Parts: sequence; structure tokens; C-alpha cells
Amino acid sequence: MTAQEYVPEQGGLEQLRLAARACRGCDLYRDATQTVFGEGPGDARILVVGEQPGDIEDRRGAPFVGPAGKVLDRAFDAAGLDRGRMYVTNAVKHFKHRPAAPGKRRIHQTPDRTEIVACRPWLVAEFARIRPAQVVVLGATAAKAMLGPAFRVTKEHGRRLAVPAEFAAADDAVLVATIHPSAVLRADDRDAAFDGLVEDLRVLTAAAA
Ligand code: URA
Ligand code: SF4
Repeated sequence: MTAQEYVPEQGGLEQLRLAARACRGCDLYRDATQTVFGEGPGDARILVVGEQPGDIEDRRGAPFVGPAGKVLDRAFDAAGLDRGRMYVTNAVKHFKHRPAAPGKRRIHQTPDRTEIVACRPWLVAEFARIRPAQVVVLGATAAKAMLGPAFRVTKEHGRRLAVPAEFAAADDAVLVATIHPSAVLRADDRDAAFDGLVEDLRVLTAAAA
């Protein structure tokens, strides 16, 4: 399973976005409403990678517009970063979930390794168009997609890391991994988890200064 054959070699972000609508690179398109592609200006210096769209993103067709997106917006604000100038995307572009009773919120399922690898050509293609100077990796799934299965966010969060060569980036680009904003919502101590997220993001604010 791979998205590779659906990814156009030529063209900009809009061509990618259009082509991604028709992706059948793994089975996740079947139960999802639509492909949720990345969003943001083509000249963004910061590229943010989440896991996969949630219930609300699946319906609206845009990344991080649900509860996790609200946490993320607040965290960017607190870290002095402007989301409007970032390109925000996900490691996996379709919503994986268990079906729910009508009117109920569908239950998110973590994408598995095959799906992460299948969808990675889209992420690689987004990097090739944006060539970011800074990269934010949100949570374990995004980290697996970019840094491999052995990477541990709990250990490596908040460190300034290099961007793996497979992902095109500006010279001396910096990558920082941190917890996923939905982990803040699940944490016993939400304030502490939120502060940890902001502190990790500040690594980029400091680097940009
Ligand atoms: N969680 C993600 O990882 N991405 C989204 O777009 C929404 C929730
Ligand atoms: Fe294609 Fe990714 Fe959707 Fe799978 S999850 S169908 S690889 S866009």
C-alpha cells in the first residue's frame, strides 16, 4: 500500500491538494468523508505535522479545526507564533475511526505503521514544495512518520533536531518534536501538559529570533 502513484511529480501545493482528493493509497479513504490536506501559505517558514484529521476535520476538510486545533492555536499564541504564517498538515490524510451511532462523535483510531508509510509520500511532497526552515512534530504518529518507529517523543521532546534527509527543508532547518495537543486534553493535569507543549514550541521562537 502506498500513495506514491497518486502523487504528481510536477506542480505546486494546489496540484498536490487536488490529486490527494483521489488518493486510494490505503484503505482509510473508504470510511472517511474526504481527504484532509495541509493548509497554509506556500512560503511558510514553519511546517507543522499532526497525526490525522479528527471527526470535525473530516467533516470540514481542514486540519486542526476541532478541539485539538483550539489547544494548538492557544499554544502557538502563548509561544509567540502565528499560525496564519505556518503550513499545517497531518502524517495521515484520512480520518481513521470506529463507526458511531448516528449523531454521536466517531471514535478516533491511531493509524498503524502500514497506513503511516502508505501516506508518507504526500508528506514528502508537501515538504518538497514548502522547504521549511522549522518543523514542528506533534505526537507519536507524526514522529513515527518522520523520525522512524524507534523515536520517543517523551524522551526527545523540546530538543532541536535535524530534519531527516528524505524531507526537503531549508539549509540548517530545525525540527522540534512535542506532545500532541489532544494529549493535553486527556492529561490529568492539563495546565502542566499545556505548559510543556508551549515550552517545546518556544524552542522555535528562540531559534527565529
Ligand atoms: N489531530 C490531528 O493530529 N490533526 C488534526 O488535524 C486534528 C486533530
Ligand atoms: Fe491516501 Fe493517505 Fe488517505 Fe491512505 S490515508 S487513502 S494513503 S491520502
